[in-house]
Amino acid sequence: MKITVAGTGYVGLVTAVCMAEKGHEVNCIDINKEKIEMLKSGHSPIYENGLEELMQKNKEKLHFTLDSQEAYQDAEIIFIGVGTPEKRDGSANLKYINEVVDQISEIVQQECVVVVKSTVPIGTNDKIEKKLKSKNTKIDVVSNPEFLAQGTAVHDTLCASRIVIGAENKRAKEIMLKVYEKFDAPFVLTNRRSAEMIKYASNDFLALKISYINEIANLCEEIGANVQDVALGMGYDPRIGSKFLKAGIGYGGSCFPKDTKALHWLSNLHDHELKTVKAAIEVNEQQKLRLIKKARKKYNNFEGLTIAVLGLTFKPDTDDLREAPSLTNIPIFLEEGAKVKAWDPVGIPNFKKIYPLEIEYCNSIEETIKDADMCFIFTEWSEIVEFDLDKYSELMKRAVIYDGRNIYDNETLKNKGIHYFCIGK
Ligand code: UGA
Repeated sequence: MKITVAGTGYVGLVTAVCMAEKGHEVNCIDINKEKIEMLKSGHSPIYENGLEELMQKNKEKLHFTLDSQEAYQDAEIIFIGVGTPEKRDGSANLKYINEVVDQISEIVQQECVVVVKSTVPIGTNDKIEKKLKSKNTKIDVVSNPEFLAQGTAVHDTLCASRIVIGAENKRAKEIMLKVYEKFDAPFVLTNRRSAEMIKYASNDFLALKISYINEIANLCEEIGANVQDVALGMGYDPRIGSKFLKAGIGYGGSCFPKDTKALHWLSNLHDHELKTVKAAIEVNEQQKLRLIKKARKKYNNFEGLTIAVLGLTFKPDTDDLREAPSLTNIPIFLEEGAKVKAWDPVGIPNFKKIYPLEIEYCNSIEETIKDADMCFIFTEWSEIVEFDLDKYSELMKRAVIYDGRNIYDNETLKNKGIHYFCIGK
């Protein structure tokens, strides 16, 4: 089928490449010239496992353009995968979606299904359809939220946990089933508002699960329990499940923080506040400062100390810094006059755009921890997990580790004479 994808970020580009892999002819449009040029030369502007290889493999079926006329004029299906960032009040900013919809309404004259992949507030698809139908009654709008996680996006799309299709008529439903004909996944066929809600409810539930285990972890510290054992014991219950029970320094990224706030905002608008979601947000905001609070018990402030930071991205296998704990903690170290040395296998170029000069960026973990007074771990990159523990004592001025991801074993580190502070154990 002839598919156009608007937006070449995580959602748009991964959708486009995976649709090409499944045999569709795909045209991608973006407003960013640099990105389109890079894509045309066969390179991915985002760091995502396996994506560039799949782009190469399907290069005959993938086209990239800045020209909206070319992109939309004979598309049978248009996927919208542009961002819906957070506004100051927590609501979702639909500016980019609206721009795409305006262009579609100006250009598309043919029969077409417009598929909204971006995460949008409940009711947005209805509004989009109303707008588009006012110019062209042959357009149907379908909500088809995505559930890919960064770092595993290609796998999550090709081997989807489920494909949710929110459509209001038979024709649109049938076309969507044809688009996804070669995908082997459970299908949830529903109406548009339910599909929109499935996306928010899923993300907010996972965020809630993390905030819940983080609160349990904080209590474990007080009562002498070990949150990792607690999570293990809980996770064997299939009704609970073992995933997303890793306690730590809080969730980040471009989705959970934004989607919890957006749904909470929407629930207030409908005079039906989601109190559990509100609690998840509050717990997470506090959790990001948990290690600093611990450190404050030993040090009044960080002035004059050399702090090694391992891990800058919000999670491993991505170069994305959005809502990363490093961005909450490092400014505090700097403000108090600490010297910050940092290492991350892929996140440094993006971090440099925010802090070009204030931080000493290092090429290895060894270089980062050398002569440091303390080390903060914010991301569980495998290089840090597998790092030779003896080197902390050998290289640091004082072997003091604050670990926001609970990657090491307390006893082992204690036996090596390392002062180790983590979360919930
Ligand atoms: C998340 C969801 O997992 C995807 O299903 C969804 O499609 C995506 O948002 C989206 O809406 O686009 P993502 O933000 O890429 O994906 O990353 P996750 O792997 O979910 O991690 C989010 C945050 O939670 C990370 O900061 C991670 O460190 C944290 N986390 C995760 C924990 O603190 N503990 C856990 O047990 C799991």
